[in-house]
Amino acid sequence: MFMKDLMQQQIIQAGIATLIITIISVLAVNLMPGLDRDILIRFVVAMGGNTSQISSQNNAIYWISVSGLINIIGFGVFAFASIWAALKLAVIGRSFVLVQLFVLSLITQWLVWQSFNIICHPIGCIAAVFLGSFFGYYLRSNEKLRLERQAQYYELMIRNKELQETRLSLVKQDEVERRILAADLHDQVLNDMKQLVHRFDNYVNSPSSEEADRIRKLTSQVMGEIREVMDSLCPSVLEHLGLPAAIEDCLRKGSERAGFKIRFKNNIDLSQLEKLSLVEQSLVYRLVQETITNICKHAEAKIVKAQLQNQNGSIVVSVIDDGKGIDKGKDISNSRGLRYMRLRADLIGARVNWREGENGKGTCVEIIINTASDNNGA
Ligand SMILES: Nc1ncnc2c1ncn2[C@@H]1O[C@H](COP(=O)(O)OP(=O)(O)OP(=O)(O)O)[C@@H](O)[C@H]1O
Ligand SMILES: [Mg+2]
Repeated sequence: MFMKDLMQQQIIQAGIATLIITIISVLAVNLMPGLDRDILIRFVVAMGGNTSQISSQNNAIYWISVSGLINIIGFGVFAFASIWAALKLAVIGRSFVLVQLFVLSLITQWLVWQSFNIICHPIGCIAAVFLGSFFGYYLRSNEKLRLERQAQYYELMIRNKELQETRLSLVKQDEVERRILAADLHDQVLNDMKQLVHRFDNYVNSPSSEEADRIRKLTSQVMGEIREVMDSLCPSVLEHLGLPAAIEDCLRKGSERAGFKIRFKNNIDLSQLEKLSLVEQSLVYRLVQETITNICKHAEAKIVKAQLQNQNGSIVVSVIDDGKGIDKGKDISNSRGLRYMRLRADLIGARVNWREGENGKGTCVEIIINTASDNNGA
């Protein structure tokens, strides 16, 4: 009866002490935001041993005489708990310190036993270890979750900023294109219209069939120019004949400007192309248009090939020239035309790659459009 009461008293003392330490630690962690959690975790775990020592000091003689075996088992369980906690905490990392503390706690208790004949209470000890480990694990998990949420938040902020910058860049490019359009209208169409008015005045003053012919020719020339400006804004061939025909047309126009030969191949069937909306097709067309403009401006190519093919559910548009290739010494990372291409591709979830052309000559531009999943474009 006496032994049972003593044991109960021991367990209650150890339990209460452990509970108080745990509660104080939880309160401290939550009420003191600047507190180093690591130190607290280590403290709680290390207290596993000390709690038992405090609670068992008053009954040292009793334990020395009767609990040798219990202590051996207790220490065994303590060691097992340490390994268990280490394995559990290893998932989160930096738990090596905790393992060291468990081991240190064990050695300290052994030394106390050897030096002062005070034997720790195994049950309180185990309880403290489990509670301490559990609390440490809980804190670690919480901290990990908090860090993950914070990382997600920052990632979202960065994405938002990128989106804003993309929008701004595209608005700027639209502004540039409007200016080019205004210049085209001014330089070609308006000048021809002025000539037309002048010729018309001449005709009114002295009508002749030759002047009428000239006026007719000039009028159809102006109509052609207006059609060209309209076509560069919104290619009618794209709307009427689809993306492959529009790309072929763009290639042909480039060849007329720069004098290279062309090869065109389309291996995409209509059903796959239909997965792209007209807006998406327009954006792909714009990418090809800039690629061909670049070839005309920089490549000095003799042959330019364009092909559309299916690669694992994606449409891949490749434009390959045999020209001088992109100058490796030139920094093109922030080059305007290529940057806008990337931004436009981003809008429809596509990718653009630049690499060397065939046999290490010229340039190959690859536009990869994923049609397997829904894109965020149009
Ligand atoms: N097919 C190509 N062959 C050789 N060089 C190329 C080719 N395409 C691009 N480049 C090089 O990459 C650079 C960047 O191209 P980008 O389209 O960004 O600029 P740009 O054509 O010079 O000017 P912008 O497009 O703004 O009018 C070019 O200046 C050129 O040196
Ligand atoms: Mg360019």
